[in-house]
Amino acid sequence: MFVAVEGIDGAGTTTLTGNLKSMLEDSGMTVHVTREPSDLTVGRFIRAELSTHRAGMPDRMALLFAADRVEHYFTEILPKSQENIVISDRYKLSSLAYQGALGADVAWVDTINSRVPWPDLTLYVELDPEVAYDRLRVRDALEEYETLVFQKKVARFYGRLLERHDFPLVRLDGRLAPDELARQAFRHIMEARGASLESS
Ligand code: TYD
Repeated sequence: MFVAVEGIDGAGTTTLTGNLKSMLEDSGMTVHVTREPSDLTVGRFIRAELSTHRAGMPDRMALLFAADRVEHYFTEILPKSQENIVISDRYKLSSLAYQGALGADVAWVDTINSRVPWPDLTLYVELDPEVAYDRLRVRDALEEYETLVFQKKVARFYGRLLERHDFPLVRLDGRLAPDELARQAFRHIMEARGASLESS
């Protein structure tokens, strides 16, 4: 099974991913946690770009993220998801929201990402951009995309994407305590897993 965790910066996707891993493992499941940008060649290149403030040109970045995703999906996510629950901290919804908010055409971003499938379940952690930004500010160096104005725009793009119903998605309340958020996410994963086992 393949699950992606999504949200604006500061929404808590990384914390949720870690907590879910522990909770699923405690229930006897094997879990592989990963992230995008990935830790593969293009993903590492993208991280370097983001940390040195050279993330301009949304079409170029969209292509880099898509290239990273193709490698990540086919060499890591797909093989690992045969026997594990794979949880990716961000996946293709991030490209539609972030590169869309930066000015890339969302339909085109969708097209260049069409070689990889949607996850079995996408967990969207919803949090007010002001609250998320306050969380980010207490961390150290802010990255290229971490300004409040931009995060508000990304939240609007995510909002529009949540209206689409062509892939399985649930919304979670990012204001919840981390344990409760993980418990709710866990329940949704179990439900989705039950449904996919029934249909197979
Ligand atoms: P992030 O998960 O925030 O990494 P870290 O926790 O190490 O800071 O991801 C880095 C940034 O990249 C984040 O602002 C979201 C952005 N991003 C995109 O713009 N497009 C994408 O397709 C992905 C996966 C991430």
